[in-house]
Amino acid sequence: MNVLKRCIYGFSILSLALISVQCKGNQKEEKQENTTQKMDSVSIEKKEYGTTPAGQKVDVYTLKNQKGMEVNIMTYGGIITSLKVPNKAGVSEEVAIGFNNLEQYTKPNPYFGALIGRFGNRIANGKFTLDGKEYQLAINNRPNALHGGPEGFHRRIWTAEEAKGGDVASLKLKYVSKDMEEGYPGNLTVFVTYTLKNDNSLDVLYEATTDKKTIVNLTQHCYFNLSSDFTKPILNHEITIDADKLVPVAATLIPTGELKDVTNTPFDFRKPKLVGKEIEAKDEQLKNGLGYDHCWVLNNQDKGERFAASAYDATSGRLMEVYTDQPGIQFYSGNFLDGTLPMRNGGTYARRTGFCLETQHYPDSPNKKDFPTTVLSPEENYKTKTTFKFSVK
Ligand code: GLA
Repeated sequence: MNVLKRCIYGFSILSLALISVQCKGNQKEEKQENTTQKMDSVSIEKKEYGTTPAGQKVDVYTLKNQKGMEVNIMTYGGIITSLKVPNKAGVSEEVAIGFNNLEQYTKPNPYFGALIGRFGNRIANGKFTLDGKEYQLAINNRPNALHGGPEGFHRRIWTAEEAKGGDVASLKLKYVSKDMEEGYPGNLTVFVTYTLKNDNSLDVLYEATTDKKTIVNLTQHCYFNLSSDFTKPILNHEITIDADKLVPVAATLIPTGELKDVTNTPFDFRKPKLVGKEIEAKDEQLKNGLGYDHCWVLNNQDKGERFAASAYDATSGRLMEVYTDQPGIQFYSGNFLDGTLPMRNGGTYARRTGFCLETQHYPDSPNKKDFPTTVLSPEENYKTKTTFKFSVK
């Protein structure tokens, strides 16, 4: 009896000890999980955004970091619907033009926040020739083709895959553009990955492959107003563009083919200059663009990703720097905004209340043999990266 009692007693003690060890282990695990969550300084959240008139479901992803930066990206057009960045007082506010509902995005608008493809900017008369064959694109900006056509990548549903690790949050979007879609040859598989980091930068990585020779020129068409006051024009923003040359255009905004030195012209932004300083100057190029709407020939084209341009708004203290490996950047001062499109909280977007810095190849490259090539062959990978980095000063 005694022996049996002792055995039971001993067994109970052992079990208790084991249970307590296990509990401690679990606590440790829980503790570790909590610490990981705390260290996990970025977050991604997915929500339903709505349904297009064609019945397609659209999601919106919110990427947040620990420094007060937040970006919303939807699967329709890969559009940045909102971008919030701290000002010099540490207050995070909206800096990108946008609407507050999906329906408005599906109606005609000048590419607010959208991914642009298959070909950013204009192709003269929508025509180009590849290997002796002439292709005709839809004319959606008389007499030219603009930004991939009326049903370009900005109006397509992209599939999304989210990834989070350490202090980085990524959203990888995919779209397969069919052979002859919008008139372009080849099935083109496109990935665009947005990555938000804790240094308040947003990377945009573009990748593409094709099964037939085609042309590609992808970009992002966000309109920024760093003051966050969308009732005010962006004329008080200070712009810098690291470019000695400009791609001059004719009246229909198609490049003339020459590259023009910016020295002593309103297009010299090698040192920071207010947008408004010379925008009304008597200048043929400003007349053709109705303001700034030009591609600059970026310096150091052999250097890979490097500083390309910046914008600074003194009232908020926000500085945005753009880094890219692309040869050109289109600085567009929002000249066509005409007060017809609704702001998020009432009112309308008036002329020049937002600007774009679109990293890209030069417009109409397929028809200009001296411009860097935009041809993509099946044995090549298209890969290019642009970073928008925000800070205050
Ligand atoms: C680009 C073009 C502009 C204009 C806008 C959209 O930036 O360069 O001319 O078409 O897109 O309105």
